Amino acid sequence: MRELYYLNQYLKKYAIPMSLGILFVLLTNIFSASVPVLVRVGLDEALKQSVWISGAGDSLVMGLIFKTALIFGVAILLVSILRGIFMYYMRQTLIVVSRKVEYDLKNVLYDKYQQLGEGFYRKHMTGDLLSRMSEDVSNVRMYIGPSIMYFANMLFTFVVVIYQMVQANASLTLWVLLPLPILSVSIYQVSKRMNRGNKVIQEQLSLLTASAQETFAGIRIIKSFGMEATFSKKFHEEGEEYKRRNMDLAKINAMFFPLMLLLMGLSTLLVIYLGGKAVEAGTFTPGNLAEFVIYLNMLIWPVASLGWTTALVQKAAASQKRINEFLQAESHQTETGKPFKLEQEIAVNNLSFTYEGKTTTSLSDVNFTIKKGEIIGITGKTGSGKSTLAQMLAAMYYGNAEAKSILFDGVPLAEIDLTDYRRNLAYVPQDVFLFSESIRENIAFGLEDGKASDEELQRAITAAGLLNDITQWPQGLETILGERGVSLSGGQKQRVSLARALIKKAQFYILDDCLSAVDSETERNIIDQLQAWLKQSTAVVVSHRIAPLKMANRILVLDDGKLTHMGTHDELLVSCEYYKNLNDSQSAENQSEGM
Ligand SMILES: Nc1ncnc2c1ncn2[C@@H]1O[C@H](COP(=O)(O)OP(=O)(O)OP(=O)(O)O)[C@@H](O)[C@H]1O
Ligand SMILES: [Mg+2]
Repeated sequence: MRELYYLNQYLKKYAIPMSLGILFVLLTNIFSASVPVLVRVGLDEALKQSVWISGAGDSLVMGLIFKTALIFGVAILLVSILRGIFMYYMRQTLIVVSRKVEYDLKNVLYDKYQQLGEGFYRKHMTGDLLSRMSEDVSNVRMYIGPSIMYFANMLFTFVVVIYQMVQANASLTLWVLLPLPILSVSIYQVSKRMNRGNKVIQEQLSLLTASAQETFAGIRIIKSFGMEATFSKKFHEEGEEYKRRNMDLAKINAMFFPLMLLLMGLSTLLVIYLGGKAVEAGTFTPGNLAEFVIYLNMLIWPVASLGWTTALVQKAAASQKRINEFLQAESHQTETGKPFKLEQEIAVNNLSFTYEGKTTTSLSDVNFTIKKGEIIGITGKTGSGKSTLAQMLAAMYYGNAEAKSILFDGVPLAEIDLTDYRRNLAYVPQDVFLFSESIRENIAFGLEDGKASDEELQRAITAAGLLNDITQWPQGLETILGERGVSLSGGQKQRVSLARALIKKAQFYILDDCLSAVDSETERNIIDQLQAWLKQSTAVVVSHRIAPLKMANRILVLDDGKLTHMGTHDELLVSCEYYKNLNDSQSAENQSEGM
């Protein structure tokens, strides 16, 4: 339950509508409780008058009775209308507040998600993130909205109705109330089972959705390996389990109303039996009896809702716990940090890194500096840690001890305002991600207002070697990309991703293997332009290819997470065997291409 304390801030924020809502609950109850009183008085009055009927067709008395019935009927109608109006406002305030809290909470979670680093996203699946934002938040909403409303309603109904019942007949009240705790406890038990059933259904639904999602994402591989039947079978099995769990829940659900009606019926029976005897004995009027039956009906729902809301609150607490886990996850978005500045150099001091859950280090004790304006090349075998280093420099694993090992003009990355840093950084990750929007929007993505002038676009597109490709598409820059850019070739995607970085006019560029999928002629063209483009900035270029590495002032060679060699192209040809072999094999390739 402590988990729900987090929500107190929202209860405070919406204190005024909440209090108003509770006032409406009280007013609704006052009007509800006056209906049985009117029924009793009206009925007793009419019965008294009916005693005066002396013979058949005593039209005077009949008219009187009719008038009494009419007056009380209208009174009951008016009271009920008032009650309805307040009930409307009660829902309008309390349920609306719960929707507002839901909205606030979703925004808080979404913003938090955006602040959390790479490490968090490797640990948590997309489905999990989504379900906390949708289902868990809506469970919490049920606590703020219906739970509080029904709980307040129950309290007021109890106080008002039981007070009136005791006034009318204390001992009968006791008898009538006797079955109610049983009702409350059994509803609670049924609700708990319903929630448990819902939970296993949700879990199974997540599996089912994840399975479908993976199928769609990997549909080309599935088809090319002829695995459709296997995947269909898996999906059918998951679906079968989902159906079975739903059936189980349906059985429990089916018990809910019959159980409520049974217990309600028993209580009514008790009132009529005991009340009838009291009327016979003359201690109770028929009006009292009618009044009691109505009271009982008024109590049933609050009693049932007590069990129901208790289960809801428990469910909300479990959900809030899951939400709190994320809200409390460490994020290192230091917007209060120092502004980013690069006047002299970037220094990497003893940088080591091990991915969580791994035993081998991906980077060990890497040391180097990048002077302002330099281009640094990074190469090395696959898996040697190049992308890891690039991600560290791009502050993707921000906030770990590693952020202290990277210094800009002597200021550790950990102390720099991350937003400001990213504003000045253009990073092209190894695995391209494009949004399903137009090419223009994809390229202008990182600009402050998301808009680029035609001239800027033209320059970036030319530099990224995309000009020819774009003129070939009928819609040119306005071509809309399919999901994840499926309508482009691998090399085209890479170049759109490069153009997106170039247009940013950043101070510091990190390009991770961004030309691996283009042919060597296109590569040469791009490199010529890149060199000019990067002149104003500082850059790190990761590649397996000699051509882009040649742009660099210095080249680092990584092996198994260690920095083994560092030097210019010519120096490395002499000192580093790996580099020499790389160069030899690629110049042989170029020669054969030229033939
Ligand atoms: N997200 C990750 N979680 C765990 N281990 C990882 C992760 N990413 C990379 N590694 C491991 O870290 C090591 C270095 O990987 P990295 O991606 O930096 O290599 P790379 O030099 O960029 O390789 P490539 O040339 O293939 O791109 C590898 O052993 C890899 O298995
Ligand atoms: Mg890599």
